[in-house]
Formats: sequence, C-alpha cells, structure tokens
Amino acid sequence: MTKMEVKTSLLDDMIGVGDMVLLEPLTEDSFIQNLKNRFDRDEIYTYIGSVVISINPYRSLPIYTADKVEEYRNRNFYELSPHVYALADEAYRSLRDQDRDQCILITGESGAGKTEASKLVMSYVAAVCGKGAEVNKVKEQLLQSNPVLEAFGNAKTVRNDNSSRFGKYMDIEFDFKGDPLGGVISNYLLEKSRVVRQPRGERNFHIFYQLLSGASDDLLKKLMLERNFFKYNYLSLDCAVVNGLDDAANFRSVRNAMQIVGFMESEVHSVLELVAAVLKLGNIEFKSESRVDGFDESRVKDKNDLKEMCELLGIDQLILERAFSVRTVEAKQEKVSTTLNVAQAYYARDALAKNLYSRLFSWLVTRVNESIKAQTKAQKKVMGVLDIYGFEIFEDNSFEQFIINYCNEKLQQIFIELTLREEQEEYVREGIEWTNIEYFNNAMICDLIENNKNGILAMLDEECLRPGNVSDETFLDKLNTVCAKHQCFESCHSKNSKFLTDRSLPRNCFRIQHYAGKVLYRVEGFVDKNNNLLYRDLSQAMYKANHSLIKLLFPEGEPSKVNLKRPPTVGSQFKASVGTLMRNLQTKNPNYIRCIKPNDKKAARLFTEMLVCHQVRYLGLMENVRVRRAGYAFRQPYEPCLERYKMLCKQTWPQWRGPAREGVEVLLTSLQIPKEEFSYGHTKIFIRNPRTLFTLELKRKQCLEDLATLIQKIYRGWKSRKFFLLMRKSQIIVAAWYRRYAQKKKYQQIKISTVVVQSYIRGWKARKTLRELKYQKRCNQAVTTISAYWHGQQVRRQYRKFFKSNAGKRICNFIIQRTMQKYFLELKKTLPSMSPTDKSWSPHPCRFMEGADKEIRRIFHLWKCKKYRDQFTEQRKAIYEEKLAASEIFKDKKALYPSSVSQPFKGDYLEVNQSPKYKKLKSMLEEKVILSDVVNKINRANGKGVARTFLLTKNNFILADHKTGHFKAKVPLVDLRSMSVSRLTDGFFALQFKEGSASAAKGDFLLSSERLIEIITKLHCITGSPAERNQINIHILDEFVVHFKQEKVCVKFIQGELKNDSSAACKRRNNRLLEVSVPSL
Ligand SMILES: Nc1ncnc2c1ncn2[C@@H]1O[C@H](COP(=O)(O)OP(=O)(O)O)[C@@H](O)[C@H]1O
Ligand SMILES: [Mg+2]
Repeated sequence: MTKMEVKTSLLDDMIGVGDMVLLEPLTEDSFIQNLKNRFDRDEIYTYIGSVVISINPYRSLPIYTADKVEEYRNRNFYELSPHVYALADEAYRSLRDQDRDQCILITGESGAGKTEASKLVMSYVAAVCGKGAEVNKVKEQLLQSNPVLEAFGNAKTVRNDNSSRFGKYMDIEFDFKGDPLGGVISNYLLEKSRVVRQPRGERNFHIFYQLLSGASDDLLKKLMLERNFFKYNYLSLDCAVVNGLDDAANFRSVRNAMQIVGFMESEVHSVLELVAAVLKLGNIEFKSESRVDGFDESRVKDKNDLKEMCELLGIDQLILERAFSVRTVEAKQEKVSTTLNVAQAYYARDALAKNLYSRLFSWLVTRVNESIKAQTKAQKKVMGVLDIYGFEIFEDNSFEQFIINYCNEKLQQIFIELTLREEQEEYVREGIEWTNIEYFNNAMICDLIENNKNGILAMLDEECLRPGNVSDETFLDKLNTVCAKHQCFESCHSKNSKFLTDRSLPRNCFRIQHYAGKVLYRVEGFVDKNNNLLYRDLSQAMYKANHSLIKLLFPEGEPSKVNLKRPPTVGSQFKASVGTLMRNLQTKNPNYIRCIKPNDKKAARLFTEMLVCHQVRYLGLMENVRVRRAGYAFRQPYEPCLERYKMLCKQTWPQWRGPAREGVEVLLTSLQIPKEEFSYGHTKIFIRNPRTLFTLELKRKQCLEDLATLIQKIYRGWKSRKFFLLMRKSQIIVAAWYRRYAQKKKYQQIKISTVVVQSYIRGWKARKTLRELKYQKRCNQAVTTISAYWHGQQVRRQYRKFFKSNAGKRICNFIIQRTMQKYFLELKKTLPSMSPTDKSWSPHPCRFMEGADKEIRRIFHLWKCKKYRDQFTEQRKAIYEEKLAASEIFKDKKALYPSSVSQPFKGDYLEVNQSPKYKKLKSMLEEKVILSDVVNKINRANGKGVARTFLLTKNNFILADHKTGHFKAKVPLVDLRSMSVSRLTDGFFALQFKEGSASAAKGDFLLSSERLIEIITKLHCITGSPAERNQINIHILDEFVVHFKQEKVCVKFIQGELKNDSSAACKRRNNRLLEVSVPSL
C-alpha cells in the first residue's frame, strides 16, 4: 500500500497567525502581540509572506533535529508551520531545480541570532544536498570554516556572548545536480580596535582566551606565554571567563576544525605565534627620557617582553625598539626623523597590534578560501549567505558603529527594493494590475553617507587627505557646513538652528536618523581610524622579520616598494566592498531572515515588548506587511486552493473535472464573495483581504465537520449494511444446511423402516417357497426310490434267467488273475538296471498289490547284490572284507577315516617282493609280506619323527631304517596288547605290548603314517582271524598312555588351528606328556 500523502497547510493548527500578512486587524500592537503569543508557545518563527522573522529563544529548542530536516525536505513553503528550514529548503530547491542563484540575507541587531540562523541554513543545506565521500568532505570543510573564523573574529560583547565582530558573506557553490563544490568567503571590516581595548563587560577576541586556557603547557612554553590572563594588558580583566563558554574545549575544536579545513601544522603554529606576539606586544611599556634638545623621547621600560616577542617573530630587537622611539618621515626624497613621545609610542604599539591582528584575520580568510575553493571550472550555481554585524546603538558610538550601521542601512535598502520588486514582478507575471504602494525609503540616508560629492564618507576622506592641520573637530565643522540641510543629519553647530538648544546633542557629536533609529556618533578618532596609519618604520621592521607569515602580512614594508601614495582609507575601502556586495546580491534571488532579540538580558522566555517594538519598527516589518498586503494579502496557486476549499461548493465537490482555475472561479462565485476581494492571476488566485481568507477557512472548518459527519454516516451505513448482508447470507446458509439435515434424517428413517418391512416380507415369502420346494423334493425322491425299486425288481426278474448262481466268484477271480498278469508283464518291461546302487522302481497301479510289490522290490535288490558279489575274485573279496573291517572299526569314530574310503588298500607299497633294495631284509623273513610302507617312528625324547620301513607279515612286524635298510626291530604280533589312535585326522598310532612280553621291555611304539587306517585294519584282520583268537584291542581316544621302557607317557591330541602344512606336529611337553597338535580340516 502506498503511503497516503497528507496535504497540510501553514493554516493547520496555527498558533496566533503564522503569516503576518494574514493578521487582522493589522496594527503594531496586534503585530507584537502575535509575535509574543507565538514566542510564548515556542514558535520563534513567523512569516511575512516569504520573509522569515526569527526571535532568539536564548535556549535550545528541539526543532533542529534530523527528523525536522526530513519533515521540511521537499515540502512547499506554506505547507508546514514557519521554520528557517522551510526557507532554506525553498532556496535550495529553487537553486537546484530552477537554476536561480540564491542569497540569504540575515539581518538584525547584535545578538538577535543571525549567526545561528546562517549556521542553521548551512547545516540544513548540507543535510539535504548530495551524498558521497567527496561531497561530504566539501560539506565538512565548509561547515568547519565557521568555528575557525568565529574563534578569531568573534568576541563576547554586552549584547552577545558570541558576537561576530566582522561581516561575513559566504558563497556556497553547487554543481548542476545540487551537490556542493566549494565556497568563497568575503569578510568585511574586522572591529580591530577590540584587540587593544574592550568596553566594560566585554572581552577581546575568543582566540586569546582559548589559547591561554586550552594550550598544553608545552605549547605555552614554546610560545613563551603564561596561562594567567591577568598577565596581559590587552585582555580585559572584568569578564575573562564567560558562563557557558568552555574556552579550553573550544580551543581543541578550533584546532581540529583548522586541521579539517586543511591548515598545515606549521601554519597553525605560525598563527598561534602571531597571536602570542600580539599579547606580548600589549605588555611592552614605555617611559620618557629627556633628551639634550629638550624634547622627551620614549624608551621601552622593561625589555623582557620586547625580547620575547622579537624572538617569537624572528625580529631584530634593536630595529623594533628604535621604531618605538623614532619615526622616519619621507617626503620628496627627503628623510626626516622625529622622536616619539610616550603617548605616540603607545599609539604606535597599539596600531601595530591592531594591524598585526586584522591582517592575520584577513590572511586566515584567504587561507580558508584556498581550501574550500571549488576544484572545477564548470559552471556553478551559487547560494550566498550573508551574516553581517547588526545595527548597533551604543552609549558611545564611534567610527566602527558608523561603518556598521551604514552597511545595515544599505542592506535595508536592498531589502526594500527587492521585496517591492519581487511583489511587483509577481503581479506582472500573474497579469494583475499594479497599484502603487507607499513605503519608507531609506535611500536618502544612504545618500547622506555615501554620496561621492558631499557624503559623510567623502568628507572624511577629504579631511584625511587634506594637507595642513587636520583633526576630528575640523571634520565635524566640515560636516556641519556641508550636511546641515540634510533631513537626517543633526548637529548642534550645524546651520540648522533647530538643534542649537538640543541638550542631548553634545558638541563633539553628530547624529544621524537611521532607518532603525537615531544614533549619536562621537567624532573622536574618526580621522585616525579612517587613515589606519602604521608608521613605516614599524611595517619595515615587520617585513624584516625572519618569519614567513609576518613577512607576508606586511608587504608594504619592503624597502624597494616604498610608496609615497597613501593607502586607500578604511571608509572608502569599505564603501567599495559594500558596493560590490550590493551589486552581487542584486543579481540573486533574495531570501530574508529577519532576526529579533526578545530581551536585553540574553534570557530565555522573556519577551520585552518595548524592545521588540523598536526592532519591528526599524526593521520596517510593518511596512513589509503593508507592502505585501497593499495589493493582495494572500495568494495561492489554483490547484492547492481548489484542493483546500472544494468542499465549499456542490460543483467542485468531490471532484472538479476541468482546469483548476475555472474550478476556483466557480467556487468563489458560488460562495458569493464580493468581486473586488480577489483577482485571478495566470497561475494563482490573489485574495485581497485576510478576512476573506479567514472566512474561507472558517467555512472550510465547518464544512469539514459536516463532511466528517457525512463520511461517518456513510461509513456507518455501509458498515451496517455490510453486516446485515453478511448476517442474511449466513442465515440462508444455516437454514439450508439445517433443512438438508432434517430431510436427510427423515429419509434415513423411512429407508430403514422400508428395509425392515421388506425383509419380513421377503423372509416370509422365502420360507413359503422353501417349504414348497422341500415338499416337492421329498415327492421326487419318493418317486425315484419307488421307481428304482420297481425297475430293479423288473431287471432282476428279467436277468435271473441268464445267470448261474456262483458266476460272481469266478468272475472276480478271473479279474484278479488278469490284473496280476498285467502287473508282472508290466514289471518285466520296466525292470530297473542290475546295478546294486540303482534304487529306482516303477510304481504299480493296484492298491491291493502294494505288499507284494514291496517284497518283490526287496528281493530284487538282494538278488542284484548277490549277482554283483558273485563276480568278485578271491583277492577283491579280501580287499572288500578289509574295507568292511575298516569301516566297522573306524566309521564315525575317527575323522581320518572318510578320506581313506576311496583309496584301495594296496598293501605292498614298497613292492618289497620285487625291489632288490629289500632283498636282504626279505631274506630275514620267511613269511610273505602283507604290507610294506614307510612310517615315522616318533622319538620318545623330543617327539620328532624318523622314517622307518614298516613290514607286516602274518605273525610279525618289522621296522627297518628306511635309508639304509638296516633292520631295527622285529615284533611278534602275539605280543601286541592294544593299538591306540586319536579321533582326529592325524596319522599317529601307538602299538602297545602285553606286560611281561619280550617286546614290552623295549617299550611301546608310537608311529605315524598317512595310511594309518590300512595299517590298523590289516593288523586287526591278521590278529583278529578266528583261528588266532588273539584279539588286539583298538582304542580310539584323544588321550592315551604309552609305556616307554620304565616311564609312562601320556599322548594328548589337541585340535589346532588350520595351518598351511596340514600335518600334525608332535611335541614333548614334559616327561609325562607328549602333545600332538592336529590341524583342523
Ligand atoms: N535559534 C536559536 N536557538 C537557540 N539559541 C539561539 C538561537 N539563535 C541564537 N541563539 C542564542 O543567541 C546567541 C546569539 O546569537 P548570534 O547568532 O551569535 O547573534 P548575532 O549573530 O545576531 O549577533 C547565540 O550564541 C545563541 O546562544
Ligand atoms: Mg553574529
């Protein structure tokens, strides 16, 4: 949602009257009263048309915040309550958007808030104009130039604790986008007399106090200063410390500002050296010394200060000392030296101090300008801000006040001219007839002062340049003759006898009727101040200084440039610069801020009507209002006007279609406002009388109330109707839903009832049908049974004659025989193969043959086995018998057994009978060798095996060395008691002898062989034949005892882990234990 734009106006929530043009009735009293009303409610700004009146609140008000800046930004001038920001915004936008150079003229008495206003304008413009690093730097430099110049150019006066003692005009330059580029500052006539003397209750320029309170001890030492103000003659003693002014803190901000503006550290130091030098200069005192020629000559009393000052500035002390005692006058190639008396020496000292300081100040302005100068040559738009010292009326007014007041007079003139001109231009622009306006014109006063022929400034210059005896009195005499007839000039010695008896007019004074009031000027010092003389010896002494800045400040001291022509007088210089300024201002679009001081006490919330009344008078504010109202008091473009008042007329409310101007015409005609009350310009409506405007406003207010009621009414109606419609719609929906629900319920009830009734009826019908069907079925069955019996009866009766009485039994036998025959024939055809392992058997079809079939199958198998066995030779038979025996001994008992099943028992592996190797051995045996093989005999001591040839005959077994064939042992089988093997896969076996037998003496044998199964089986078979009756026990255990001679050793088998060489290993653990680890399969 876009934010709704709210059009506001100055006229909304107005306290008093925001624009004096609308004041009714317009009298001085009502004017002041309006200002007071607004001031009491913290409204310090009031407009006269586009002029802003600002009353110094003497306290900080919360109206300069960033929020306020935003509020006033890009708003129309009359849209919000009066504010200096509105003026700044108007000026800035006009500059940026319409390409019109602007100037902001700020006038008012000293202490009325001009400088503050100028700073507010600058800060507002800085806040709203472009952003960016470069732009911000420029802004910062422009803003920071203020504290620097204020430190050197402002002082506390009785009127204002921070009074500007110089006039300042600053041009801020912008590029086409409205971004600031830089600025130029012009300064006007610093009040330099303040350097050497200050009126009671006032101070010297701030910088002196700031330096002494704020500088570090180190810096003070370098500058040869002491912190105590009382040590310095030039610093007034009565009010060195000002309430609310922190000099030390300000010194730091000034140095900081100087750094930001771009001063180099060395430059800052030079400046401070000069300031210190001025203070030192003030402390130099003189005494008179009589000379031989009878004249008095001045001498420096205490040379210490002089010495220090010369050290600071790098000046030759002797030259300066001499310059304070002797004065050289050059005239027509002649040099004449005259001595200075004490008074003249003091005069020279003060003149030097004043010059030193004022030149330093001008240099500062130039230096600041150098820094803030725009860096581009592109075309610039300019906003000038003029903050010039205000009109001053003191008890004792001198040349400075004269000059200041002259400047203010000129500004007033330009103000009158430009306001009138602007008013006039607007009328012409809008095509409205111009009626002449009477107003007070101060051109006459300006003329009295600045007229080139007989103006006061011209007279003064004439006096200053005139040879011969010149004094302030001769100047006054001159004025008395020349200006006597002038309306605004008053002096008791003038030819105008009117003032002869005027007591308030002392002899050495003249009085001018300024636009702001009468001011009495004392002529003393006019000539001197206008001349601004500095003895040449002094300027030359300065020039010779070994200090770059001093040299720069006194260029006329250069001996080669000795110039006999007098420099231009102060008055003429000022007049020229004011002239330039005025011409400059006239080319720009002026914006006015007129500052008013509410009281003389610098007090907040105090409004002294007398004082304000005086200012209102001399600022010509009433006239300003009259001028604005002479023609038309109020003007406004057609669109906003129509927008604001359109509700007052039926045709324009709520929307006027057509040009705004016609709308306004229709509106005003329908309101029956007299024709002479308004005029139609090209773009604006002009209203002659504020009363008319207020009538419009009043009507609008009433109308707004009615409108509010109307809007409320319509809104309430709309809301109620909406609510009603909603309720109705809801009611319909609720009713519909309820009806539906009720109908559904009713329907379900009917449906359930129907189903129940239906089910009863259907049940009843079904039972009836069932009964009928059952009856019918029974009837049918009865019929069938009866007919069957009957048919049976019939058939039996028929067939009885064909059959004998035992035919059934014979038929049965016949069928059985046939079936059996068929079975055997079938069996013959499908008889399985003769292999005893073939267990297949074709199934038979008849149940009653099942037992016979099973028996036949068994017999057939036995027969097949018999047939198979019949084929065997005696030899094979023996082999199978052995295999059978092996099976009986080992099957499911020893893990080695399964691997032996498939291997045939060859018996004579070593082929002893053929091989000649065993001839000798064989010759020792008379019997046939049943088995020959190589076995390992396990060493009793360490369990290691030794290969032995093992031969088995019918009655003995023999062990021989395998390699050599040496006979080792021959054991009769009858000595064998038992054989022990393990249950594992190993080939170890023990042959244990009967106790007491011959072989037992040698001890049992522990042997191992891969063919363990065969060996044991054969041993068993030989010994176990029924004839021998010499059965040897076979033990299959994992642990058994072997007798080795005397010792009994336990052989223990352990299932080990799987190993690569899958042979069992035997190890002697101790003398009682042999451990055999057998790898698992
Ligand atoms: N708008 C303001 N808000 C608050 N204080 C103000 C305002 N204008 C002026 N002052 C006070 O009044 C004093 C004098 O104002 P200044 O601008 O120096 O006067 P001028 O330049 O007219 O002599 C300031 O130091 C400040 O204390
Ligand atoms: Mg000021």
